[in-house]
Amino acid sequence: MKKIVSLLVVLLLVWGVSAVAFAGEVEKSFWGNTKEGAPIYLYTLTNDNGVMVQLTNYGATVVSLYVPDKEGNLGDVVLGFDSVSDYEKPDPYNPYFGATIGRYGNRIAGGQFTLDEKTYTLAQNNGPNHLHGGLKGFKDQIFEGIPMKTPEGPAVRFKYLSHDGEEGYPGNLQVSVTFTLTDDNELKIKYLATTDKPTVVNLTNHSYFNLAGEGSGDILDHELMIVADNYTPADDTLIPTGIAPVAGTPLDFTTPHKIGERIGELIREEGDDPFRGYDHNFVLNNQTGELALAARAKESSTGRVMEVYTTEPGVQLYTGNWVNTRGKEGKLYGQFSGFCLETQHYPDSPNHPDFPSTVLRPGEVYSTVTIYKFLVEE
Ligand code: BGC
Repeated sequence: MKKIVSLLVVLLLVWGVSAVAFAGEVEKSFWGNTKEGAPIYLYTLTNDNGVMVQLTNYGATVVSLYVPDKEGNLGDVVLGFDSVSDYEKPDPYNPYFGATIGRYGNRIAGGQFTLDEKTYTLAQNNGPNHLHGGLKGFKDQIFEGIPMKTPEGPAVRFKYLSHDGEEGYPGNLQVSVTFTLTDDNELKIKYLATTDKPTVVNLTNHSYFNLAGEGSGDILDHELMIVADNYTPADDTLIPTGIAPVAGTPLDFTTPHKIGERIGELIREEGDDPFRGYDHNFVLNNQTGELALAARAKESSTGRVMEVYTTEPGVQLYTGNWVNTRGKEGKLYGQFSGFCLETQHYPDSPNHPDFPSTVLRPGEVYSTVTIYKFLVEE
């Protein structure tokens, strides 16, 4: 009997020690090869509360994110796939699930912009416009992953050199995107970039959240608040036409509203509907370049809450209007199965001198931070 007890004690100690050692660490494992044979890795980060995020160097992508509900059960709150080959597929099979978007998140009208009197032509990969960095944007680039242990928590830095002329953009752009999982249950994303020629940059993350758990249905019952009195109305190709107040429109999330409450007002019964739901850029209030609350989402049945903080002036709310694919474990993801809060500069800023500038010049450092923070509430 004594022997069994001491064996149990030893086992518990070993388990305890390894559990402690595991929290705060980054575990790197081989995930598969791309169709061209490049090795792709999964990086698993765990914090002291058991929150776990999995990232991959393919597109510096968030693959899964397990956060507790009000009973302490962990659930994966991001849409995604099980294999590298699924991530390699283009939109709409893979509508940028979890990916880092660059060089320019969102649209550039007509795939053209002029900088210092020189006109640059980019791919028109979204109707007449350029979207999310072009035909082979950062979603499909292979980053170098560097696991790190930081005072804030486990982290992975993803580095990528986007060559001069890639997808039509000028300048060699050296990019790093660092994901840190803190013990405050925050996924913190820090973007840095430098260039050797004047260029434009607008980096974001394209995670689709479902706080009830990925694959569990639609997100129409999530309550959402966005700290924005204004938004950028857009034409039928989703290019901004100016700035207007949200007051009196279904875009007024200055107080919490269910996503599904007024979404029907945005859906057109007749003809081609370019929106099919929320796909709008909000002009965040009081963004001075410091981190500030941008949005808060809550899912009542699980009590999960997500707060978004950013240094960026805007955020795109996209409610997965065109999503129709099979994700993790073959689960069907349909329209509204996840929502994105893509922190960003406003769409088409290179063609709107009145919008905050996205120009980056040699000697300057592009530096932005976005935090997705997870809490529970009764
Ligand atoms: C855009 C949508 C687009 C989606 C997937 C979002 O960021 O705003 O218009 O359909 O990405 O490509």
